[in-house]
Amino acid sequence: MRLEEVNGNIFYNGDCIVGARAYIPDDSVDLIVTDPPYGINGDRLHHHYNRDEAFVVGGYVEVPASDYGEFSRRWIREAERILRPGGSIYIVSGYTNLYHILAALRETGLREVNHIIWRYNFGVYTSRKYVSSHYHILFYEKPGGERTFNLESRYGAGEKTPDNGSPNYRDREDVWLINREYKPGQAKNKNELPTELLTKMMQYSSNEGDLVCDMFLGGFSTARVAIGLNRRTTGFEISGQVFDLKIEELRDTREGYLLPSLRTPQTGGRANQGRPWTDGERETLVRRFTGLIESGETKKRAVEILGRELGRGRWSIEKMLEKQGVRTGGRRGGPRREESSKGV
Ligand SMILES: C[S@@+](CC[C@H](N)C(=O)[O-])C[C@H]1O[C@@H](n2cnc3c(N)ncnc32)[C@H](O)[C@@H]1O
Repeated sequence: MRLEEVNGNIFYNGDCIVGARAYIPDDSVDLIVTDPPYGINGDRLHHHYNRDEAFVVGGYVEVPASDYGEFSRRWIREAERILRPGGSIYIVSGYTNLYHILAALRETGLREVNHIIWRYNFGVYTSRKYVSSHYHILFYEKPGGERTFNLESRYGAGEKTPDNGSPNYRDREDVWLINREYKPGQAKNKNELPTELLTKMMQYSSNEGDLVCDMFLGGFSTARVAIGLNRRTTGFEISGQVFDLKIEELRDTREGYLLPSLRTPQTGGRANQGRPWTDGERETLVRRFTGLIESGETKKRAVEILGRELGRGRWSIEKMLEKQGVRTGGRRGGPRREESSKGV
């Protein structure tokens, strides 16, 4: 098996089952993001899968459909072994062989966290049936440790969309609408995963410095995004041809290059989230809110300011104002305290 190093990250040109056994210690990986070959016979880019690397012709290597169940069991067992307790794994799969992957997962101690549907553009054209435009993403964890899930890595829990929805909630729904990338004129691995998709998984399920592994590197997209987000990374690709081409491209990837493009979630000032309100805080809330509106602030802005001052989310501030009988009339009407039978 051939090893190549890029910025301290080691990549293996060879079979992931053999390679993981030989080189990756137990419980050493924080996150696995991987997209195994689909095992669809008759594919134009199909090359016969052969366990003896000497016979691999190059290019994308497929797994014969008849071997898919056993193949899935073998690599998923290795994935389970190398994940640290509390580590996460995301497996991208079409539906044809999904049942093999689900069955293999069930034979391990890995536990389902979510079954995600990734809906994409560029669906296959059909005229006598519906158009297929989704993949499955199986998000599992290895029990026994604390799983990383960075709740506010992309949107603050208190942020609102213009229609008063929660972007944090929407971003965490289990149907993801993410376009595939169209790269005209560039050599591309079959089914290369979009940066946006990989970034999302890594933001939620890993931290800078964590080790992210891809058992089936293909176009090295997982490795590229991991480096771009300042994660350490490793992985396997059985095809010498794909490996050689993509490892060279990876050498140009700058550590952390994706970080400036990430949005900054508004999470500040929420130190008291979840804590019961004291009488003093309630009084301050009403007094300050009234003062802010009287000085010309909009309701939205006043709630934002108070969220920061009181260390609470927008929802909590609005709810408490309502409970205190303050009608939030905004700039024009100003706040009005309603009569409440319970008193304030
Ligand atoms: C679906 S592609 C991965 C695509 C990749 N996620 C990307 O974004 O480019 C699957 C890759 O696994 C490789 N492969 C097939 N069998 C393998 C094995 N036993 N070990 C390692 N790689 C393998 C194929 O050559 C192919 O490049």
